[in-house]
Amino acid sequence: MDQTLTILGIAGSLRNASYNRALLQAAQQLVPPDVRLDIFDLAGIPLFNQDHEPDPPGRVIEFRESIRAADAVLISTPEYNHGMPGVLKNAIDWGSRPSGHNSWNGKPIAIMGASPGTAGTIRAQIQLRECFATLNLHAVNRPFVTISGAAQKFDAEGNLTDEPTKDLLKNLLDSLVAWTRRLAPR
Ligand code: FNR
Repeated sequence: MDQTLTILGIAGSLRNASYNRALLQAAQQLVPPDVRLDIFDLAGIPLFNQDHEPDPPGRVIEFRESIRAADAVLISTPEYNHGMPGVLKNAIDWGSRPSGHNSWNGKPIAIMGASPGTAGTIRAQIQLRECFATLNLHAVNRPFVTISGAAQKFDAEGNLTDEPTKDLLKNLLDSLVAWTRRLAPR
């Protein structure tokens, strides 16, 4: 039986050179050996329209199936105007519907974020955590991964080069894996 634990990584940015996507890519290199981290790109997820719930776009169906298939979720969010980006909230809303078919239901989740500024996405992460209760997502509380000064922590190719940040990321991944196994022991 395949014992590999799968994590679905979601970046709340569509930007080509996104620090938050780069953070997920760094995480792919740091997961424990029996864990796989797949990244779902939110490009192609249209604006949510409740009229389309009975016949959702194909990319939304793929997104929901990816959430359901994963053992756990890892979101890497930017902060836009002191909150989570609309791109991310839009995807969260699609995943929560239709009523009674919440794809997020019961999933373990961890969050992190990177910003070139000083606050390191903490306000966006607080907003995200507020959504988790209604979505019935079970969040890892610690460590807080709020990466400020991102331009100094990644190289020009988007590789995470800052060793303390790598240690923090590894700590978060280990916490998410332990939390996931605790919630659903195999
Ligand atoms: C930002 N940025 C930003 N940064 C921050 O720390 N706090 C904030 O409130 C905002 N607000 C904000 C609004 C908008 C509309 C944009 C486009 C940007 C800067 C943001 O952190 C920066 O663009 C990051 O690089 C975005 O993340 P990605 O795309 O690198 O993952």
